[in-house]
Amino acid sequence: MAKIVGAITTSHVPAIGRAIAKNLQGEPYWKPFFDGYPPARDWLAKARPDVVVMFYNDHGLNFFLDKMPTFAVGAAPQYNNADEGWGIPTLPPFNGNLDLSWHVINELVAKDFDIVTCQEMLVDHAVTLPLKLLWPGEGQCPVTLVPVCINTVQYPLPSARRCFALGQAVGKAIESWNSDARVLVMGTGGLSHQLDGERAGFINKEFDQQFMRSLIDDPSWTTKYTTAELVEKTGTQGIELLMWLAARAAVPGGVRQVHSNYHIPISNTAAGLMVMEPTAGAAQRAAQPA
Ligand code: DHB
Ligand code: FE
Repeated sequence: MAKIVGAITTSHVPAIGRAIAKNLQGEPYWKPFFDGYPPARDWLAKARPDVVVMFYNDHGLNFFLDKMPTFAVGAAPQYNNADEGWGIPTLPPFNGNLDLSWHVINELVAKDFDIVTCQEMLVDHAVTLPLKLLWPGEGQCPVTLVPVCINTVQYPLPSARRCFALGQAVGKAIESWNSDARVLVMGTGGLSHQLDGERAGFINKEFDQQFMRSLIDDPSWTTKYTTAELVEKTGTQGIELLMWLAARAAVPGGVRQVHSNYHIPISNTAAGLMVMEPTAGAAQRAAQPA
């Protein structure tokens, strides 16, 4: 059966794409942000995932306000970048993993999740930039992809409780996939930020850090909050932390924090990063053969 090697959660601000394209990683503004990623890449070199299952939110580029699925799972052979243009100029398409996509879709529907399946799916900065941060450089991304999109754009949004349950079900589906593959779960978005309105620029460091700690100590902590409470605490777009929650929930049992970074601000966003790996029995299952 497939093995979940761990979870990586990260912010996904579009300006990161421009910073990569213009080689600004060493500039004072960007350095504290980009310095977070080499330890994550070192861990990846040991964890050696073949596939990424990525919880992310589309920003109105693949799904627009007229048709907005609450949860959508990609089952496409390839995923092309569809960002507005202020990110990385050109990118090769990301290869899908059709076998795992359909397995996850079948398992989710069997567990009463009414998902939308997408045999064509454009992706935006929420998918492309986290993959570029973890696998930088030109050329093909070395992992295949199963995107799982959670609506955080058009109300009504799914609750934290429902996103946690989705994550758990996706994790169970991965672990029942008849494959030798090593699977990394990712969640992209957040942490606290608000792009417009009266509270534009709003950031809540205390809540962000409590949330990050909860993923290790008390993973379902966030589910006690309503969506409105989470928006109040994290900002209109800070609700993207639901992606982190689903990714954590997909790793069964306890996790150990391998690495984290938190830096304010990147554009309007409190930028966070966490690398988590399963503890105890789960870690043994995920351990590579000697
Ligand atoms: C920003 C953050 C986001 O999560 C996003 O999707 C777009 C913009 C920002 O801070 O600029
Ligand atoms: Fe976003």
